[in-house]
Amino acid sequence: MDIKRALDKFEQFYGPGEKRVFFSPGRINLIGEHLDYNGGHVLPAAIDKGIYFIVRKRNDKKVSLCSLNMDDKKPLTFESFKDINEEKANWLIYPKGVKDFLIDNGIELEEGFDLLLWASLPNSAGVSSSAALLVGFLYMMDTLYQLHFKQIEYATFAQKVENDYIGLNCGIMDQFAVAFGKKDTAIFLNTNDLTYEYIDAKIDGYSIVVIDSNKKRALRESDYNSRREECEAALRDINKSYKVTYLADFSKDKMNDITFSSEVIEKRAKYVIEEEARTVSSCEYLSSGNIEAFAKELNNSHIGLRDLYQVTGKELDTLFDLALKYGAIGSRMTGAGFGGCTISLVEHSNVEEFTKNVLTEYKKIIGLDARSFVVSIGDGTRELEI
Ligand code: GLA
Repeated sequence: MDIKRALDKFEQFYGPGEKRVFFSPGRINLIGEHLDYNGGHVLPAAIDKGIYFIVRKRNDKKVSLCSLNMDDKKPLTFESFKDINEEKANWLIYPKGVKDFLIDNGIELEEGFDLLLWASLPNSAGVSSSAALLVGFLYMMDTLYQLHFKQIEYATFAQKVENDYIGLNCGIMDQFAVAFGKKDTAIFLNTNDLTYEYIDAKIDGYSIVVIDSNKKRALRESDYNSRREECEAALRDINKSYKVTYLADFSKDKMNDITFSSEVIEKRAKYVIEEEARTVSSCEYLSSGNIEAFAKELNNSHIGLRDLYQVTGKELDTLFDLALKYGAIGSRMTGAGFGGCTISLVEHSNVEEFTKNVLTEYKKIIGLDARSFVVSIGDGTRELEI
């Protein structure tokens, strides 16, 4: 499937005529995991794979939506934007969430639209197709109906939809990376005040290989929200002795002064504080082209997520071990964990061999078919010329 075929499909469903195309990328996080709800720094990047939105405004109020990546693959039609609900297909909770958010903020539409979605990234692969979908939707609605959103609002509104209308208490990292992505650069984002810097991703000679563990997960039901609660508990323990607003700001040297309410809470705090330091130093290494030091930090981040934060699981740990065994200089799980994917830095000339070996051995050990794809760092959500 390519964009040309998606455009043909659009005409097949909705007839010939003018259309606009928007693209919203997935993201990887290079390092700085589970820090965006702890006031820390993160280092994500948008990727060259994502979701295409092919759309045409209608003269009446009707709204038709179709995703070529979902089972039905045919338009689902509603009498008006405000009628969108998820009865016809589960994935409609995302457009419904955007719709509810807009209506709750006083935005009603006079005219509907015909929309076809096609994604060049797998669903639930851990590269944030949900942020791509939400930011892309908001961007498209803003452009079509001139809603006058600011760039930062694509990210903050999408996060709000995810938090308040979908039910995942996620941080801002994914939505920010999708909205602000820039080719060949990572985003060094301070999540407590949303200041950021674009960092040249100097990884010459290496490819970024994403391997999706293919372990099924539903973040809304996973331990994601309970990790947040544990971090809040750690901060409460620290605040009995020191005044700090964010867990990521606490100094490692003072850790011994704190009596944590449990060993688990102490581990979570230790991970967050160490990961914050790794993220800051990784940023230096990446921008100065010190790829070996950068790669080492990626590995240490995975180890922290495995041993202290405990969000990896045997699938991601196996992928991590195999990546290092077959020649990656650095590897780690990326995103929330509990399934999802790893990223590995692999020499260009070794990518094919590496992928074959890792996937084969993973299948033997875990019994699942992992999927791999090479990504490059791309621009954020935008309209495309067609
Ligand atoms: C998910 C969330 C993000 C972030 C990561 C972990 O991707 O959506 O906000 O917390 O997990 O770093």
